[in-house]
Amino acid sequence: MRKIEKQMKLHHTEQDQLKELYATIEHTTQNFLGYPVSKDFDYSELMPFLKFPLNNLGDPFGESTYRVDSRAMEREVVNFFAKLFRAKEDQSWGYVTNGGSEGNLYGLYVARELYPKAIVYFSEATHYSIQKNITLLNVDHIIIKSQENGEIDYQDLKEAISYNRHRPAVVVANIGTTMTEAKDNTRTIKSLLEEMAIEKHYIHADAALAGGFAPFIKPRPVFDFEDGIDSISVSGHKFIGSPMPSGVVIVKKDNRDRIARRIAYIGSSDATITGSRNGHSPLFLWYAIKKLGIEGFQKRTDHSLAVASYTEKRLNELGIKAWRNPNALTIVFPAPDPEIIKKWQLATEKGHSHIICMPNVTFEQIDSFIADIEYTLCESV
Ligand SMILES: Cc1ncc(COP(=O)(O)O)c(C=O)c1O
Repeated sequence: MRKIEKQMKLHHTEQDQLKELYATIEHTTQNFLGYPVSKDFDYSELMPFLKFPLNNLGDPFGESTYRVDSRAMEREVVNFFAKLFRAKEDQSWGYVTNGGSEGNLYGLYVARELYPKAIVYFSEATHYSIQKNITLLNVDHIIIKSQENGEIDYQDLKEAISYNRHRPAVVVANIGTTMTEAKDNTRTIKSLLEEMAIEKHYIHADAALAGGFAPFIKPRPVFDFEDGIDSISVSGHKFIGSPMPSGVVIVKKDNRDRIARRIAYIGSSDATITGSRNGHSPLFLWYAIKKLGIEGFQKRTDHSLAVASYTEKRLNELGIKAWRNPNALTIVFPAPDPEIIKKWQLATEKGHSHIICMPNVTFEQIDSFIADIEYTLCESV
């Protein structure tokens, strides 16, 4: 016994490694404006649960022989999002994923099982997880042009589908593209499919970031089940914020029933991408939802939008051509000095950078960022 305990102690060099990692993370987490991750959370009340090997193996809505789990909470999280996304009561199903990418894989997997001969259409501004998932699923696809603001080019989509009218169509709608947070209008996409009489069609919404707050924006963006979608994926660690990546995927129940298989070993049905599933992340999401409530979500949305509007204004006042899509938290502007990109960890692509005003971003932080920009502008004169 004593021998095992001795072995389980970290060597002092390893303890130093841990300390060093902690200090680095503590530092890098401070100036963080370029990625959509909220950091204003406190889950300390849940720390005792880290003692348990929580595993939500199998279907969250069915029984399982493995009961060291948080599946009751997971069901509440799924139902909460299903309601936010206006899914028909008792006609939807979902689970807590490892992130938005897994939710996208799941949506496309369901679509492929429904229409194995379909072509998947998505815009060039789409997140790389879609291309990867399509490769994994081995389905045909066509990339559609984007408009300048990052929204899908509906005319190009229409033309691409019209050349392939004999094939079922799966369209991925971006509810907030990664670089410009552009939202594709799912009602327009649905009407386009119906006008062309493509009976076998499926719309998956990738709402990784904006799914967390789109239901609280006025006017409400057109993106959910009442607006024609068949499935949706949202990240949990983005707008809500969580120490580990997580997400939620919601699909129509009938479609999900086609892919579920009963597995005796786990005493549950196998309807998810992975077998073992994180049992802590649903608990963290449940906790955040309960603490925030609808009012908390609304407040976070309003705060983020106010900071985004302020950032855009401050950059414009400096003569920088900053812009954002309607009611977006993302401000796009010409890439600044490399030192600024490094310090503030700004995602940069094709000569443009962006700031994402997540709920933890404060007006003071933006002032400090603007001061850095002003300094580089003065230096360059
Ligand atoms: C539009 C979009 N889709 C999907 C993802 C992937 O989400 P996750 O990182 O949760 O897998 C991202 C991540 O930034 C994204 O911006």
